Amino acid sequence: MKITIAKNEQAFDVIAAWRIIAQMLEKSDAVIGLSTGQTTIGMHRVVSEIYKQYPFNVSKITLFNVDELTNLPREYAGSCYTMILTQLAGPLGIAEENFIMPPTLSADFAAEALLFEQRLAERGGADLQMLGIGLNGHIGINQPGTPFESETWVSPMDPDFEARIRRETNVPADTVLGGLTRGIKNIMQTRKVVLVAKGAHKAEIIEQAVLGPVTTDIPASVVQLHPNCEILVDAAAGARIREEAEARGFEW
Ligand code: GLP
Repeated sequence: MKITIAKNEQAFDVIAAWRIIAQMLEKSDAVIGLSTGQTTIGMHRVVSEIYKQYPFNVSKITLFNVDELTNLPREYAGSCYTMILTQLAGPLGIAEENFIMPPTLSADFAAEALLFEQRLAERGGADLQMLGIGLNGHIGINQPGTPFESETWVSPMDPDFEARIRRETNVPADTVLGGLTRGIKNIMQTRKVVLVAKGAHKAEIIEQAVLGPVTTDIPASVVQLHPNCEILVDAAAGARIREEAEARGFEW
């Protein structure tokens, strides 16, 4: 497991952006998984800015997001579809058929979960997953306790996360929220995983996920078992793993 601690938030955004761009340049038909949230907005902006100034061929690139909210209109500003469309797929001009997302509204989410995976598999499976981490260690929407064998499914939401989504999206109180998320098994089958975090509030969970035991109590700890995984954090989020990072040799 490689650890990269960026010296500040700006450096983090640029390094993370280059992980995405490098994958696009290395494989012109790469299948790239993204994450939404505060952590990834900056890297998406940097990718878009670089692309605008120095366009490269993204006509065969596939983008998807690791998860999607359910029972909200897709047009909601807080849906993962809209966030990724606005932040990255739109600015890069990714064709609609190359932006693979499950719907936010459906009568059969189990079928949608299978279809989502099938569509990714048809393209050779995911090459890269930029993976955010929640304060309780969740990845995608897989909350603590989710078995590592879980496959793409609709997960209940952690109450704090649900409250945050409700705050951020102004979803009506009577709407039941859930999240369709790639399962931990599917995330682990991705050829390369980059676990990303920034900010002092993530320092403790990053320490637990990276240096603590591999346990379903901290879903993100599973990445320790991934053969091609990088932990990419800014100095604040990496404050408690710095010594270990230095021992392994890391990049600023
Ligand atoms: C939500 C998303 C995750 C994301 C996490 C981190 O849980 N479903 O995919 O990784 O938020 O969000 P933030 O970067 O805002 O802390």
